[in-house]
Amino acid sequence: MKTLITATGILLLTTAALAEAPLGLPELPVPAGNPQTPAKIALGERLFNDQRFSATGDVSCATCHAPDKAFTDSPLRVSEGIRKLTGTRNAPTVVNAAYGKTQFWDGRSPDLEDQALHPFLNPVEMALPNHDALLAIVRDDRQYTKAFRDVFDLKASDITMREVTMAIAAFERTQISGDSPFDRWYFGDEEGAIGEAARRGFAVFLGNGRCVSCHTVEQDHALFTDHKFHNIGVGINDIQDRVTDLARAFQVAKNKGIDVDVAVLADANTSHLGRFVVDDELSSMGAFKTPTLRNIAVTAPYMHDGSLATLREVVEHYNNGGVTNPDDPVNAFLSGGIRPLNLTEQEIDDLVAFMEALTSPQFRAASATAALAVEDTGGAR
Ligand code: HEC
Ligand code: HEC
Repeated sequence: MKTLITATGILLLTTAALAEAPLGLPELPVPAGNPQTPAKIALGERLFNDQRFSATGDVSCATCHAPDKAFTDSPLRVSEGIRKLTGTRNAPTVVNAAYGKTQFWDGRSPDLEDQALHPFLNPVEMALPNHDALLAIVRDDRQYTKAFRDVFDLKASDITMREVTMAIAAFERTQISGDSPFDRWYFGDEEGAIGEAARRGFAVFLGNGRCVSCHTVEQDHALFTDHKFHNIGVGINDIQDRVTDLARAFQVAKNKGIDVDVAVLADANTSHLGRFVVDDELSSMGAFKTPTLRNIAVTAPYMHDGSLATLREVVEHYNNGGVTNPDDPVNAFLSGGIRPLNLTEQEIDDLVAFMEALTSPQFRAASATAALAVEDTGGAR
């Protein structure tokens, strides 16, 4: 764990917090009610790394969002919380989550501040009985009480989850990364920043692959997400014959007041219903938030359920028209944009090369390790 505040730390964080967005990213959105300050960011970092906020005392946010794995738990297929309990979903990166218009694969949380309330209590993540258990630790820790006084002007007994989550979100807003080889080539006009294959791959991304219709690229920046929800045929294909029954059972349970956050991580079938669990719309059945593609080479395996082990498998899934095995039937709720692409082997390789050019400098070392880890586990399944 990093020390809370050092003289040099303040200097470094000030630069980080005030610096311009890196090449390829738009201006960082910061809510008016939660301005970035170096002391708040340092406090948030400590909270993010504190394992005491879990029922077994050994799981922190960083357990599943590890800085050296681009803030994921690659190569795990789905995350492991206390006592290695598994959920149903692959941990998305926290890097650039600050740009998200919603949080979680199904967008059930509106922002980083709200999102940070949930993992502490989810029974397969940190599994605290309630938030008071966390607040008791904070109020009893002199370093924390000093920091909360400095940052929020509060005495120990007045600290609430509002300030805890504000600090965590402020820390997460410093985890942004651009400046990848692709950014240097496309936005920075640096001719040789990426190779021939990646350039051809970008042409496929914009053209025959039609990837850009959801993983968007703008004039002066690229988040590679439209912030919308689409069914691209992952997960839902496993439950096709039962979708109506599962949806109905879920709605009954939801009307009775079950905690949706707990439900989607407890049961894979419920998880595969996707955005439907949030908005009750049939058109959202099996739909998930378009994830960013930045640092994608570092964060295998892929998709909300971690079911695709490599980038090549991902491209093949799209090439098949939204089914992982070419002979499988297409699900009834598939997004209109997904149909067989008839890409050549060369185009598939080039698309992969393009995605590999999206790794930011700070995660370049991690990308080599990630490739080895996937080989070690013989793929994700
Ligand atoms: C046990 C592993 C685990 C722990 C611990 C954990 N997370 Fe996560 N995190 C996940 C998984 C899995 C998801 C996706 C869940 C979903 O979409 O339903 C996720 C989603 C997120 C997202 C949404 C990102 C996006 O693009 O939608 C953020 C932000 C996040 N976590 C931050 C945190 C913070 C902050 C903590 C600590 C308070 C934390 N996580 C603790 C596994 C974990
Ligand atoms: C209709 C919108 C849409 C199109 C078109 C699309 N994607 Fe996606 N992409 C998504 C969604 C939604 C997900 C997440 C689905 C899930 O988890 O079930 C996703 C997931 C991914 C992932 C995994 C990301 C991760 O973090 O796990 C990769 C890689 C990817 N897409 C690449 C591509 C490529 C390459 C193309 C073009 C061949 C493409 N996508 C076309 C919407 C789209």
